[in-house]
Amino acid sequence: MRLDGQVAIVTGGGGGIGKATCLAFAKEGADIVIPEVNLANAEAASAEITALGRQCRVIETDVADGNSVRQMVQETLDTFGRIDILVNNAGIFSYTRIDACTEAEWDRMMAVNLKGPFLCSQAVMETMKAQRSGRIINLGSLAGQVGGLVASAPYSASKAGVMCLTKSLARVLGEYGITVNSIAPGVAATEMAKNHPDMTDQIPLGRVADASEIASAILFLASEDGRYVTGATLDVNGGIRMA
Ligand SMILES: NC(=O)c1ccc[n+]([C@@H]2O[C@H](COP(=O)([O-])OP(=O)(O)OC[C@H]3O[C@@H](n4cnc5c(N)ncnc54)[C@H](O)[C@@H]3O)[C@@H](O)[C@H]2O)c1
Repeated sequence: MRLDGQVAIVTGGGGGIGKATCLAFAKEGADIVIPEVNLANAEAASAEITALGRQCRVIETDVADGNSVRQMVQETLDTFGRIDILVNNAGIFSYTRIDACTEAEWDRMMAVNLKGPFLCSQAVMETMKAQRSGRIINLGSLAGQVGGLVASAPYSASKAGVMCLTKSLARVLGEYGITVNSIAPGVAATEMAKNHPDMTDQIPLGRVADASEIASAILFLASEDGRYVTGATLDVNGGIRMA
């Protein structure tokens, strides 16, 4: 098993890609912490993880709130004593056109999607540095590469920020044996994307992703197989955008 005995924090692990990632990690032997605002979905994911024979802790957490994040990390350490993997997956989305975007929407999007990964990464990095190993995987997006095909400007800008934050973290944390990478999904069939217009005619593979196909790429970066990859953004988009 590729993650035997490891401890992974998957923020927003009750949602589509997050839950698929938790299950992929658990099947490879990891114990899981799910920081979530949606406790019902997180508990449902937790039940599936424990059915696989792994431990799971759901911790009510708003990733946009530094105190909430630091408390979550402390509870993780109190429970498991180590942190091997952080997946900054929690996110929110909107379609709002830039001319109608309010200051409040802009601020909340940045707080959850961009400040959240900063706060969570900062909160785990002392532990990972002391362990001299760690994996941080951030959920970027096609929207952050192209300015959004359907996504709002604040969503797209927040995801562009996440993919740049990835590089900043990777530069500083490499010397401690910690890799930091982003995944840039195109469209994955989850709650977040359920109202997207049909874009399959633009996707060379002819279909949107299943959440498990995004999770497979995250697992690669989290595992030993991805050990020499850092500061990268991995497109997992069915070919809708080719760099
Ligand atoms: N689905 C797609 O097509 C797609 C494409 C590109 C990128 N992404 C990114 O992938 C990630 C997962 O998206 P998804 O499609 O699974 O969406 P989703 O809506 O199914 O899941 C997101 C999860 O994040 C949680 N969350 C939201 N705000 C939170 C907060 N403040 N604190 C803690 N948890 C919070 C939600 O409760 C939810 O369970 C997101 O970062 C998203 O932007 C998704």
